[in-house]
Amino acid sequence: MSSEILVKQKTIDLRKKHIGPSCKIFFSHDPIKIVRAKGQYMYDEKGLRYLDCINNVAHVGHCHPDVVKAGAQQMELLNTNSRFLHDNLVLYAQRLQATLPHKLSVCYFVNSGSEANDLALRLAWQYTGHKDIITLENAYHGHVSSLIDISPYKFHQSDAEHNQSVHVAPSPDVYRGKYRADHPDPASAYADEVKDMIHGVHGKGGKIAAFIAESLQSCGGQVIPPVGYFQQVAQHVRKAGGIFIADEVQVGFGRVGTHFWAFQLQGEDFVPDIVTMGKPIGNGHPMSCVVTTKEVAEAFFSSGTQYFNTFGGNPVSCAIGMAVLDVIVKEDLQGNALRVGRYLTDLLEKQKEKHPLVGDIRGRGLFAGMELVKDRLKLTPATAEAQEVIYRLKEQHILLSADGPHRNVLKFKPPMCFTTEDADLVVEKIDHILTELEQALGLKMHNALGVENESSKRKLPTDENGHQCHSGLAHDTGSSRGFPQQTKRLRT
Ligand SMILES: Cc1ncc(COP(=O)(O)O)c(C=O)c1O
Repeated sequence: MSSEILVKQKTIDLRKKHIGPSCKIFFSHDPIKIVRAKGQYMYDEKGLRYLDCINNVAHVGHCHPDVVKAGAQQMELLNTNSRFLHDNLVLYAQRLQATLPHKLSVCYFVNSGSEANDLALRLAWQYTGHKDIITLENAYHGHVSSLIDISPYKFHQSDAEHNQSVHVAPSPDVYRGKYRADHPDPASAYADEVKDMIHGVHGKGGKIAAFIAESLQSCGGQVIPPVGYFQQVAQHVRKAGGIFIADEVQVGFGRVGTHFWAFQLQGEDFVPDIVTMGKPIGNGHPMSCVVTTKEVAEAFFSSGTQYFNTFGGNPVSCAIGMAVLDVIVKEDLQGNALRVGRYLTDLLEKQKEKHPLVGDIRGRGLFAGMELVKDRLKLTPATAEAQEVIYRLKEQHILLSADGPHRNVLKFKPPMCFTTEDADLVVEKIDHILTELEQALGLKMHNALGVENESSKRKLPTDENGHQCHSGLAHDTGSSRGFPQQTKRLRT
């Protein structure tokens, strides 16, 4: 490790020169240089502390000493591949299995969420002998080619030809989606869309290999599917000979508070055929896992192709994975997610009562979203306002992101050691910022319903993606309070 700390501009210059320009950075016009982190806090090169409200990778807290120690101790002893017998591999698999329904009993250890989802697709194709995949609107499942194909969040950004074996079902978003909270049975309505899609695929001679969905959509805008949706989808998909893949890369490991896995929010009668895990699994150490049934694993084995992964399931990763599970239990982080998550969503709900810009609050545990709209009836996305909120928070040393198809959903997914005091702080700041924005926009609570305010008629500025942003903010482009320059999504 280099002991020299470069001046920030030098780091920026070297990054521009040597790192691919498509590797985006948070707050590109004034990026943050982080040099250390602890718990839910990150520190820049000047020692300034930032409250981290977005880092679901540092699940049990940045640089948790137990996790660091477990990794270092194992690294001193041995690190090698899984072609040798090692207790860490089997003990860790056993520990993970104990958190899951009984039939999900076979693990494949890999190194990233993308690798996990790519392997899940291979398992599905091999097990079913079918090719077609159903994915959800706005889904993101990873950066490798097979996953860009099933990630509308990404493939809608490019001109690349859409894979004809991939079918996009409506996102089960009961706030902004096709069937909303006022629908008598949104779960069935959304599941019927999948059923109809399957019939359409059959009509064209295709066959369904899998339906894949995040148990709660994150990049898609913190979407919480209605209870019963997954059960019905699984029924339709299995009837067609396909399987159900639950992507828990963002939301697993107790984040939702009431359950260890977010798919369990759907009810005990729902069990996916494959679960993929990533991000929080190693608290920042690059590792991930695919868990499936014996039947799916045996079908994969029968293909005759051996599966080898140089780093997946190495003793160091497994030691780290076990330490993460230990800390979740020892510090009751799932319980903390439940308690602090409820506290946070209650605070956010109060903001909704107070601020016309707040259209919807949704959350489970420490996974919450605040959707900003300029009109509560038309649901006009308040994209520029959401970007303004995250910029102003950053100026006050709080890290939050805005995502979703309109980039107007403020996403909360902090390390699980987040406290009620942290929640108070971030919501208090948001309250001030929203008050200022609403004053600038002339938005008042009494006209929040159905009244299109003057601001939407003004000329629209363009963000750095070339999208038009709706904002009535009177920004002076020359000032530091100017219109936010970076409007790219922030994602971990
Ligand atoms: C839901 C989901 N699945 C998979 C991935 C891919 O994980 P990774 O970046 O570790 O490859 C991501 C990453 O953001 C994700 O959000």
